[in-house]
Amino acid sequence: MSVAHVPVLLEEVANNLVSGKDKLFIDATVGGGGHSSYLLEKYPSLNLIGLDMDEDALTTAGGRLRGFEGRVTLVRGNFRDLRELLGGMNVLSFDGILFDLGFSTFQMGGGRGFSFNDDTFLDMRMDDRQPLTAYDVVNSYSFEALQKVITEYGEEYRAARIAKAITEERRKRPISTAKELSTIVLKAKRKTGRVHPATKTFQAIRIEVNGELDNVRSGLADAIDMVRPTGRIGVISFHSLEDRIVKEMFRMSPVLSIITKKPIRPGRPEILMNPRARSAKFRVAEKK
Ligand SMILES: C[S@@+](CC[C@H](N)C(=O)[O-])C[C@H]1O[C@@H](n2cnc3c(N)ncnc32)[C@H](O)[C@@H]1O
Repeated sequence: MSVAHVPVLLEEVANNLVSGKDKLFIDATVGGGGHSSYLLEKYPSLNLIGLDMDEDALTTAGGRLRGFEGRVTLVRGNFRDLRELLGGMNVLSFDGILFDLGFSTFQMGGGRGFSFNDDTFLDMRMDDRQPLTAYDVVNSYSFEALQKVITEYGEEYRAARIAKAITEERRKRPISTAKELSTIVLKAKRKTGRVHPATKTFQAIRIEVNGELDNVRSGLADAIDMVRPTGRIGVISFHSLEDRIVKEMFRMSPVLSIITKKPIRPGRPEILMNPRARSAKFRVAEKK
């Protein structure tokens, strides 16, 4: 947890998602508390509920938001259960909500199997209470199931070759670490470039382990129902699979007006400072 997470599009989130009159804001992915602390600082009458399914994230957020005592409630949970989580606190509606999807920088560096060089257990769970790990996916899914996951969630055109390499390799002994997995993919793809050859495979397995696309569908559906009229919903996504879901759900909803006809992207100075920001897309909609 040594590397701090740099929040993306801070000013854009603050200006497009919150107004000075708002009383209750939901940060559905509080992470290291970067967006939350910025919003609480900028809007003194705002109260905030911060959710995260990762315990480490909540510990970090708790430290960062200590100065806002009385205005912040942190809750561990998956935003796919947004209605239940908020209902448990007697919250039936709110003024605005942010989903900053994906994972935090400190999760990447935490020896939890998210990084290509992690020599520790191949885990990739954001919530360590859930049973399915990346180890289970890699060592027990059939060739067909692996190929499907890597194709659909990684949009990797060499999925068959990679799935074959994984199933052959695990016959010798289980694939236990992220480093072992990235080495197998590297060999199977026989291609190097600016982007690590295992990037898409890792993305795919992470999405499968954490159920990320279903989480977005379910959390966003609850958010659309629960946000008050004229309240806003904002989503920052980092890959096209998520962005497509957000774009479609916004477009198809009869109760939303789309505020960002095109997604807001970070400018060059932000990308230079924080390369992770380069793929960020921020979409905002308002309840009619
Ligand atoms: C990109 S980070 C958020 C960073 C945060 N905005 C900040 O400024 O520090 C995404 C966070 O969302 C959490 N997360 C991802 N999917 C989630 C879900 N379905 N439910 C709850 N938390 C989730 C991750 O654990 C991670 O901490």
